[in-house]
Amino acid sequence: MNRAKGKEIGLNTIEVVGTKIDTRHYIGGQRVASAEAFTNTSPIDGSFLGDICRGTQKEADLAVAAAKAAFPAWAALGPKGRGELLLRLAELVEENIETLAQLETMDNGSLLRSHRRGVMPRVAMNIRFFAEWAMNELQHPDFETRGHTNKISWDPSGVAVLITPWNAPLMLATWKIGPALAAGDTVILKPAEWTPLSASFFADLTKQAGIPDGVFNVVQGFGKEVGAALVAHPDIARISFTGSVPTAKVIARSAADNLTPVSFELGGKSPCVVLEDADIDLAVELAVEQYDNAGQVCLSGTRILVHENIADAFALKFKEKALQIIQGDPRDEATQIGPQIHQVHFDRVKGFVDRAKESGANIIMGGEPNSDLGGLYFRPTLVMNPDADSEIVTSEVFGPVLCLQTFKTDEEAIAMANSTEFGLAAILVSGNKERAERVAKELVAGTIWVNCFFVRDLRAPFGGSKKSGIGREGGNWSFDFYADVKNTVVSPNGWKE
Ligand code: NAI
Ligand code: MG
Repeated sequence: MNRAKGKEIGLNTIEVVGTKIDTRHYIGGQRVASAEAFTNTSPIDGSFLGDICRGTQKEADLAVAAAKAAFPAWAALGPKGRGELLLRLAELVEENIETLAQLETMDNGSLLRSHRRGVMPRVAMNIRFFAEWAMNELQHPDFETRGHTNKISWDPSGVAVLITPWNAPLMLATWKIGPALAAGDTVILKPAEWTPLSASFFADLTKQAGIPDGVFNVVQGFGKEVGAALVAHPDIARISFTGSVPTAKVIARSAADNLTPVSFELGGKSPCVVLEDADIDLAVELAVEQYDNAGQVCLSGTRILVHENIADAFALKFKEKALQIIQGDPRDEATQIGPQIHQVHFDRVKGFVDRAKESGANIIMGGEPNSDLGGLYFRPTLVMNPDADSEIVTSEVFGPVLCLQTFKTDEEAIAMANSTEFGLAAILVSGNKERAERVAKELVAGTIWVNCFFVRDLRAPFGGSKKSGIGREGGNWSFDFYADVKNTVVSPNGWKE
């Protein structure tokens, strides 16, 4: 099977599922090549998709200069002027949903049907929502201080560097690009090196939409090379990063030299707490959903905490349902979970499971690569009652690996839920509203889902507590970060007319 193969059709262009993709950076409205390249493959079958330009300090400098030069005119356009162009861009995304879905699936192995129906429409929404928010919602009522008027505004801040991961490439990128551009910042996107394609195609769409040259730039390459050069640059105004905690620490050190404000979203080890009074079928359904995207979801509730009185019944039903998960080629409509993104990541996931096995953990489901499929497909795995301080319980695996632990009281459940260094999200399943409210109040996380999962609204704040992040994005919170919030205090005195 070699359906995923990309084709080199020119020096700087490859063809992937019938779409021409430029393998160069997009800087100042031009395609810019680098001396070196890196190889991009498809996780579906390991096939070669193309060689992509590998940026260095030189390209980082070029991109920052281009974004800096484009900033004054973009800022001066105002929310309406920018909004018109951004709404056109959102339309272009909508017109290209099928192309984007095919590309992204080929590049990162997530389900084609969810890219088509959920993710790419949401990409368009990320751009439209924030453009409209800047035009219509972003305002604060004036208020008086001893006759003086306080006028609050959100001013463009400069060049925003956006560093994004591979698990939902264009979705996570536009969740940052949308508000940054709407706020009047100019943008440099550095997509993950395992998923460079959708960003390059998206750059073409920004050109078609009439976004002025230099306002949006894409630099391809490795985090340690061009990513590090971008975040250390003294001429940037903002860094927004989604990825791992160790990388965030490196970025924070660079940002410190210039005191560049950062927004970090850093994954987690979220609990899925099932209280004794929970609707078990609902709890099972929500828990099994945690295997979505082959577990490569920052929000995933990977620690399933179940009241001991219902744990046996829960585990039985969970296994029954989870064993029905169809793993396979993400382009097939029937497939529910696909491969891991990359051999390096696959080995990392497998390493966690192998070490759990060696230390005697009770793995009651999966626990190994899917030998029917080979390649990067790892079976949905459930670890029963692992030690509370074992790495499988405390570290982010980012694969289809869940742990099931039991508790006796609500207090114990809360303590277990809050026991890791993370705090991105929590799922709580209960049949009693007052009880759920009481427990939810005690859970430390940026988002708590009660009897549901993944209900996301762009108006809502999103981000992590503890090591899961710094700051919140979404609605006004995005603009509080990307813009310079200003208070202009106007006196009643001194006017001549
Ligand atoms: P990573 O955090 O290293 O990579 C994310 C992005 O940061 C990529 O674009 C990468 O090129 C860039 N980057 C890396 N080093 C950099 C540096 N020094 N300066 C600037 N940019 C840099 O994540 P990686 O290695 O892909 O995955 C490792 C683990 O991170 C995963 O197994 C998972 O646990 C976690 N992760 C969490 C994500 C989330 O959604 N919060 C997303 C991806 C990974
Ligand atoms: Mg790839």
